[in-house]
Amino acid sequence: MTQNAPFRARAEIDLAALRANVRALRARAPRAAFMAVVKSDAYGHGMVPCAKAARAAGATWLGTATPEEALALRAAGIGGRVMCWLWTPGGPWREAVEADLDVSVSGIWALREVTHAARQAGRTARVQLKADTGLGRNGCPPGDWAELVAAARAAEEAGTVKVTGLWSHFACADEPGHPSVAAQLTVFKDLVAYAEKEGVEPEVRHIANSPATLILPDTHFDLVRAGIAVYGISPSPELGTPADFGLRPVMTLKASLALVKRVPAGHGVSYGHHYVTEGETTLGLVPVGYADGIPRHASGRGPVLIGGERRRVAGRIAMDQFVVDLGPEGDRIREGAEAVLFGPGDRGEPTAQDWAEAADTIAYEIVTRIGTRVPRVHLHTENMENTGNTENAGATGNTENAGNAGNTGNTRV
Ligand SMILES: Cc1ncc(COP(=O)(O)O)c(C=O)c1O
Repeated sequence: MTQNAPFRARAEIDLAALRANVRALRARAPRAAFMAVVKSDAYGHGMVPCAKAARAAGATWLGTATPEEALALRAAGIGGRVMCWLWTPGGPWREAVEADLDVSVSGIWALREVTHAARQAGRTARVQLKADTGLGRNGCPPGDWAELVAAARAAEEAGTVKVTGLWSHFACADEPGHPSVAAQLTVFKDLVAYAEKEGVEPEVRHIANSPATLILPDTHFDLVRAGIAVYGISPSPELGTPADFGLRPVMTLKASLALVKRVPAGHGVSYGHHYVTEGETTLGLVPVGYADGIPRHASGRGPVLIGGERRRVAGRIAMDQFVVDLGPEGDRIREGAEAVLFGPGDRGEPTAQDWAEAADTIAYEIVTRIGTRVPRVHLHTENMENTGNTENAGATGNTENAGNAGNTGNTRV
């Protein structure tokens, strides 16, 4: 696919914006190292190209949820520090140790599995101990921390493990003033102090996600882990718009109209006939649906830019398509016309946040759920082969690369 080739649907991924977002976020946490969170196919943006772009802009760390995602980064030739945190018993510990990943451990069972793998591999595993400081999700509860720290120290003495990090995750960092933020920080500092008293010498202590990176400087410690903000989306509209933080949305989702037709007044539209035309009008068929990640909950509400005008989904969003009422004058619009579902928002198009509001969800879910049938087309890929940590100054141009690990909808151009 070239940039101007016809397409049904595509997600354009502006890697120049992604690099600028990483630089803007690093400037907010100038004393901390930076981790770009690239789990879930880089929140739907294509993991490998986004990881390379983040590295080029100074992300010394990359973070994934699953070990398989982290191993996919290695398989793509990406070196440097990569951390993964969502493990289940019997996971690929040995592969992770051999691939030099930083693996997170939230309980004794996981520490046992990683030390066993390290012994088998004949290497020292890089392990980060995760504390549950109040999120109530993954992480070691404070009551079990002493036992986990003691076991980790014993493994360090045995040479199977090096504890490289102590870390945790916030529950409510996107709600300014929420009392849980201060409470979690207090617990985190106590648990870190305890581990250090017991002899742990972590390279990095970290707890800050995107909202904390943006608005809570005393949570930055040695490393910040930003996900959604890397992709140019504000963690919460209450905190501010992307522009308020110097961020620019990275993904633009477009489709080409598959059919334009005149219909009379009183014509039902899409399953259930929840929309009925008021007068004679023109309907445009947008060939993406909930199988592509367009939320069915936004039926009748989702916004789309077509022919220079913002319009709304008419009736139900179906599996592969939805309809827009282009109005009585709409027949000047023809098949193949561009429908922009969302993008940065500065050319009149809606944003992922607009779709989130239409579907009563969060923008994280909108971008992450865009399906594998939609090719990711990566723009501004220059200097992407540099997987180290050098800044990528003065990069311009407009080449494409739809490489998108784990996404079978990819086209490489
Ligand atoms: C452990 C962990 N750290 C950091 C992040 C990044 O969060 P955000 O996208 O809000 O920056 C996530 C994402 O949910 C996460 O699970």
